[in-house]
Amino acid sequence: TPGQTYRIAAIPGDGVGAEVVAAGRTVLDALAADSAGAFDFAWTEFPWGCAHHERTGRMMDEDGLDRLADFDALYFGAVGWPTVPDHVSLWGLRLRICQSFDQWANVRPVRFLPGVRGPLRAADEHELDWVVVRENSEGEYAGLGGRNLAGRGPGGEVAVQSALFTEVGCERVMRYAFDLARTRRHRKVSSVTKSNAQQYGMVLWDDVFRRVAADYPDVETESVLVDAMAARFVLRPQDLSVVVASNLNADILSDLGSALAGSLGLAASANLNPERRFPSMFEPVHGSAPDIAGRGVANPIGAVGSAALLLDHLGRPAEAARLERAIAATTAAGVLPRDLGGTATTADVTAALVDHLGDA
Ligand code: NAI
Ligand code: MG
Repeated sequence: TPGQTYRIAAIPGDGVGAEVVAAGRTVLDALAADSAGAFDFAWTEFPWGCAHHERTGRMMDEDGLDRLADFDALYFGAVGWPTVPDHVSLWGLRLRICQSFDQWANVRPVRFLPGVRGPLRAADEHELDWVVVRENSEGEYAGLGGRNLAGRGPGGEVAVQSALFTEVGCERVMRYAFDLARTRRHRKVSSVTKSNAQQYGMVLWDDVFRRVAADYPDVETESVLVDAMAARFVLRPQDLSVVVASNLNADILSDLGSALAGSLGLAASANLNPERRFPSMFEPVHGSAPDIAGRGVANPIGAVGSAALLLDHLGRPAEAARLERAIAATTAAGVLPRDLGGTATTADVTAALVDHLGDA
């Protein structure tokens, strides 16, 4: 659509979140400036996070969700700081947004970039590239349970943390995974559970997977237990394409995948509300990295890769691909931040990304 202005809410959050979101905005604005007026971005920044919590006692404003609801997309950094317990900061902002806006599919590509020597590189000359699709609305992160249910006192406390699996929740994320597989070179979906040990929710998951798979006879399938899949990520990743898993399992597997690709700082993610009733949210997989925050050395590639997913969602696949190529050209040229064994700062990498937008 020519002359379109996309209204984006930026929520940098805590720690390196602010540094990498700023980098992503710079790259997106450069892309818009080069679009000959085809599109641009109108940014609104929300200063929510742990510092906001210290000032106000809340992770986000009370009417925060209402204020976010009308944006075309949300661009998120990371949340969490030692001043606020992690379960408070995560539930008070990021999980609150994901759950309220029914962002039920969390899409996390694992991308091996040229010039980055990940642990699998030496052993393998295959093109490695797969996507983890994470069920993002229920499962182990449904928030069901409680502490001290039986009224036991100190020392005798009990806690229950239940997982919730619904047929509807399983089916929609699996159909998303199968539709995604149809757009890829290798049409395959690997379903991950621990249904040998978790005999209720995960057996339902397996049943729904078999039923949905029957509607996609052109897509290869397999069901793998999560521990075996962790080993597969390391030992035989070349036959992965789309990996669909529950909330917790996919969370862990996608961190493993990005570490294998070279660093957690590379990993991008989209929290999608595929029906588009609510805005979707795009964020790097990593957290606020307090150990390196404020030093200008955070790797912005995960945040910029998330910006590419944002462009795709806005119906701009050509621009998304251009951003992906700029990322690959940057790493191929050896402009690597510290987590990838280089010396480039966040600003150096961002400048190289902007330069390489001109390549294509
Ligand atoms: P983390 O992802 O913040 O850091 C893990 C390791 O990766 C650290 O050594 C860090 O320096 C490194 N790292 C992370 N991002 C990087 C980047 N862009 N460039 C270079 N190195 C990078 O995870 P951690 O330390 O477990 O958690 C720190 C805080 O972040 C906690 O409060 C946690 O709750 C929060 N967190 C928030 C998430 C989110 O907002 N989506 C996700 C994960 C953690
Ligand atoms: Mg995680």
